[in-house]
Amino acid sequence: MIGIYDSGSGGLHSLCAIRKRCPSVDILYRGDLAHAPYGTKTREQLLPILRENLSLFRALGCHHILLACMTASSLLPLLSYEDGRGVYPITDAVGMSALALTKNKRVGIVSTSRTMKEGKLKDYLSARGVSVSESEADLLVALAERGQTSPSDAEVRAIVQASVETHLCAGVDTLVLGCTHFPYFEEAFRYAMGEGVSLISSAQAGALSFLKQIPKDVLKGQGHIHFI
Ligand code: DGL
Repeated sequence: MIGIYDSGSGGLHSLCAIRKRCPSVDILYRGDLAHAPYGTKTREQLLPILRENLSLFRALGCHHILLACMTASSLLPLLSYEDGRGVYPITDAVGMSALALTKNKRVGIVSTSRTMKEGKLKDYLSARGVSVSESEADLLVALAERGQTSPSDAEVRAIVQASVETHLCAGVDTLVLGCTHFPYFEEAFRYAMGEGVSLISSAQAGALSFLKQIPKDVLKGQGHIHFI
């Protein structure tokens, strides 16, 4: 059994990627809507929330937990060894995908404000010689949760357009959708960035890396999904 944890429905993109490859894995999914959104909260607000949710997984016998949330993944290094045991963040996997894809070494990251302030992905890429532009699109999280995701929706288009301006100016060839809620808006981002820019789903990259890392027997099950 594996756990997948996000502030809401963003982690469902990771769940789908995992189910496609491992249909018999048993999954505990937690979308912590009671505390969402995470991306506009402070470290001090988020750390107790993360501890509480991670201990819930363990209390239910789940010891391999995919942190399918860029915001929470950015904060994982601040948790104690015990609190973070068996928890798999997605930040580095996303960084590796961006490194592999960019040709001009210019990468844009659109994420939540908290992810941007923590700067983990930016640091990872900058340390490897990549020039990074950053923006936040916190407002998309609430839109995703209420199902307002159509690329022809005026509000969606306006938020997406505003969030990509800095990346267009920077001439990036790769844009990281650095919040697992943002793949709901993939078409809008694709349209706003134009041809020739690769998009990376943090949810997908994180899920694939998780599958490579965990012990294979954890993936054997009956294909049950429980939402907790
Ligand atoms: N889906 C999450 C992320 O990847 C959090 C969004 C939020 O709750 O603000 O950052």
